Amino acid sequence: MSTWLVTGGAGYIGAHVARRLLESGRQVVVLDDLSTGHRSFVPDGVPFVETSTNDGAAVAAALRDHSVDGIVHLAALKYAGVSVDEPLRFYRANVDGMRALLEATVDVGIEQFVYSSSCGVYGTPAVVPVTEEAPLAPESPYGETKLIGEWLVAATATAHPLRHTSLRYFNVVGSGYDEVTDTSPHNLFPKVFAALDAGERPVVYGTDYDTPDGSCVRDYVHVGDLADAHVVAVDRIEAGTSLRSAYNIGAGVGSSVLEVVAAIGRVLDRELDVEIRDRRPGDPAAVYGDVRAAADDLGFVVQHDLDDMVRTAWSAWRHNVDD
Ligand SMILES: NC(=O)c1ccc[n+]([C@@H]2O[C@H](COP(=O)([O-])OP(=O)(O)OC[C@H]3O[C@@H](n4cnc5c(N)ncnc54)[C@H](O)[C@@H]3O)[C@@H](O)[C@H]2O)c1
Repeated sequence: MSTWLVTGGAGYIGAHVARRLLESGRQVVVLDDLSTGHRSFVPDGVPFVETSTNDGAAVAAALRDHSVDGIVHLAALKYAGVSVDEPLRFYRANVDGMRALLEATVDVGIEQFVYSSSCGVYGTPAVVPVTEEAPLAPESPYGETKLIGEWLVAATATAHPLRHTSLRYFNVVGSGYDEVTDTSPHNLFPKVFAALDAGERPVVYGTDYDTPDGSCVRDYVHVGDLADAHVVAVDRIEAGTSLRSAYNIGAGVGSSVLEVVAAIGRVLDRELDVEIRDRRPGDPAAVYGDVRAAADDLGFVVQHDLDDMVRTAWSAWRHNVDD
């Protein structure tokens, strides 16, 4: 039975990946500095190492102590807007932290690595659905750090034995386990839920985009489907199958902000009245992914539609907020 280290495993997505890896029969160790994560998200019985990936010595010790065979690296700071104001904090966590992690990986002799990247590496794509071959032109320090992370892992794999891939997530939503929820104050689902709890109208920024209903279009993917893609990537890497350096992981279709709000109203069986405000600077009109490469190589097929995403996200939200 192999052992995988999940960095960022106390976070929203990492906690799902850790659970899916456990369910696949593997042993899991979580490493997280709890800067945005929650100790309660780490599954019971899973060894937890509370440290930063920036601390290379502590990471190397964890890799050795737990006889780790491979790493899924999700630990990062993630808000693009915040990164514009605090670029050096983002570069320290996402770039310095990943460099230190890879150094420990090489020192300890670990040869398997899955990296959590982002559709933010594309910036505003000229063509949607965007393919992996599209120009890489991030538009925030956050997006830059995710792209540099892809370069770091690829460069390391050129110089050292390292079977790897990078998964470029689109907008990750929903929940696979009620105890794990997206606590982000910046993402659409939690923002709408928080507004409803406060008795306020959810805010929609911009309804004058060049999209079918005028609101921004994004690619929402259920976190359970995304976590399953990690398990398949790990399966393939362990089997020695050669993978592309990067895969888009999204639903492969765009949903508008107004469609999401309508889905929330439908699932919750509530009349939702929204407040329309001006566009936010830097929001592209439409970003959604071409996911055929992941379908071909990872057998990736989404199992959850938008209503599933809303239902599971709301259930986990209630579980965590009402507790
Ligand atoms: N949520 C999304 O829609 C989305 C989209 C694209 C990419 N991603 C990527 O997915 C990954 C996970 O995102 P999430 O949504 O679960 O966010 P999250 O904030 O819930 O999880 C990130 C975790 O990493 C930990 N962490 C941060 N810096 C660390 C460091 N230096 N050392 C150790 N731990 C550290 C945090 O404490 C947290 O538990 C990130 O790499 C993010 O860039 C997320």
